[in-house]
Amino acid sequence: MSDPVPFLHTFLSWRVGIPDSSTFMIGHHDSVCLIKMSTTSQRPQTTVFSTAEIRKQFPALDRVHNGYPVAYFDGPGGTQVPRVVVERMSDYLYHHNANTHWAYPTSTETDAAIENAREVCAEFLNASPHEIAFGANMTTLTFHLARALGLKYSTQDEIVVTELDHHANIDPWRRLAVERGVTVRTVRMDPTTGTLDWDRLEQSINARTKLVAIGAASNALGTINDIEQAIKLAHGVGALAFIDAVHYVPHALIDVRKLDCDFVAMSAYKFYGPHIGVLFAKRALFEGINFPRLVPAPDYPPENAETGTQNQEGMVGTAAAVEFLASMSSEGTRRERLASVYHELHLRSSGLVKRLWNGLSLIPAVQPYGPPPDHPRTPTISFTIEGCKSTEAGRLLSEKGLFLSHGNFYAATVVERLGLAPEGLLRAGCACYTTADEVERLIDGVSELVENLSLSRH
Ligand SMILES: Cc1ncc(COP(=O)(O)O)c(C=O)c1O
Repeated sequence: MSDPVPFLHTFLSWRVGIPDSSTFMIGHHDSVCLIKMSTTSQRPQTTVFSTAEIRKQFPALDRVHNGYPVAYFDGPGGTQVPRVVVERMSDYLYHHNANTHWAYPTSTETDAAIENAREVCAEFLNASPHEIAFGANMTTLTFHLARALGLKYSTQDEIVVTELDHHANIDPWRRLAVERGVTVRTVRMDPTTGTLDWDRLEQSINARTKLVAIGAASNALGTINDIEQAIKLAHGVGALAFIDAVHYVPHALIDVRKLDCDFVAMSAYKFYGPHIGVLFAKRALFEGINFPRLVPAPDYPPENAETGTQNQEGMVGTAAAVEFLASMSSEGTRRERLASVYHELHLRSSGLVKRLWNGLSLIPAVQPYGPPPDHPRTPTISFTIEGCKSTEAGRLLSEKGLFLSHGNFYAATVVERLGLAPEGLLRAGCACYTTADEVERLIDGVSELVENLSLSRH
């Protein structure tokens, strides 16, 4: 198979100046750190590609709408895809396409491509390839896992979910109340801070708890949860922890070994890959779970967790997406390169999210939600504009080439608790290709929209 990213390695390294003084909180655990920088200091030299170099990899960024270059703030719903990912997928489909485990070259190449995808994803998470299963999407994988785990659950057992989560990490577990009579406890979120009530989380976990399902980051509000603590609490009573990392992994590098994760789910289309889901489970768990499977299908991990013929081009694209991320830096092993890329991208997006939060907060009638920029959060800001429905605001902003998602993003309980159902929120997410200029355009666009609204009222 062709080298995934040869041309990226020829890029120049880039020196970037620090925009201002900041304390950046990336999260709570080990893969995550607090970075302090003084007002006068310059950002240390980075070998990670500049945003301008990164942007060249995304053909979608050439799109012009109504005469405006499109600024994609819809990353939390799905990022744009770099050329290399599409090229790897089309190379697979054009030249290596076959079904698995047969004795001719394209089939052997397909086996190798799948093996490679597991290896790359394993390195992405610091896992082993046997611990990586693929599926249609995170939701399908979670339903499948929940149903399989549920076989051993009964009316005596409890599961803990949270109000802050995407419903893909709530409803598959709630379903077990119907199917197995399990009690599902729901941890409340504080609508004023967009964070979980940790006392309630602790109180909800008890000797009957079998599983704690919690998101690493909220796709609606950007809140980052202390998953290390949640995993410890779960393990303290002998329960398992299921981490929805779909909104987390595009912004922070996760280390499943250090965190002692049991299950982690993610979706490649949120980190520059194709539409496919990935499930990590500790090998012993995959081995012990009685997944629904066809009799002739493999009964060993991780394939026992997968059903039917897989989205092989999607697996190839997922590996290419991880390799794309790693390729933005040129020093060290793939994981070391990923670490420096995530570190650098975090610094950049922290500056953007701070500016966006402050800019939006100054506009009358605009209300941002969730934790402020100096709290653990991703660069995703949701907000409302008084007097303008989120659907209408999304449409008006798109006329200026500003593409934002709106609604509840399936984090429906968050929107209900904020008192914003049914219209929900407008959501702006920064990705690796987001520029300071795009953030200014968004602030100006929202500001103009608000001005026009008040003019039309008078
Ligand atoms: C935090 C979070 N969890 C789960 C999902 C569901 O992922 P999928 O679309 O792969 O089922 C999403 C999708 O938006 C998400 O943002």
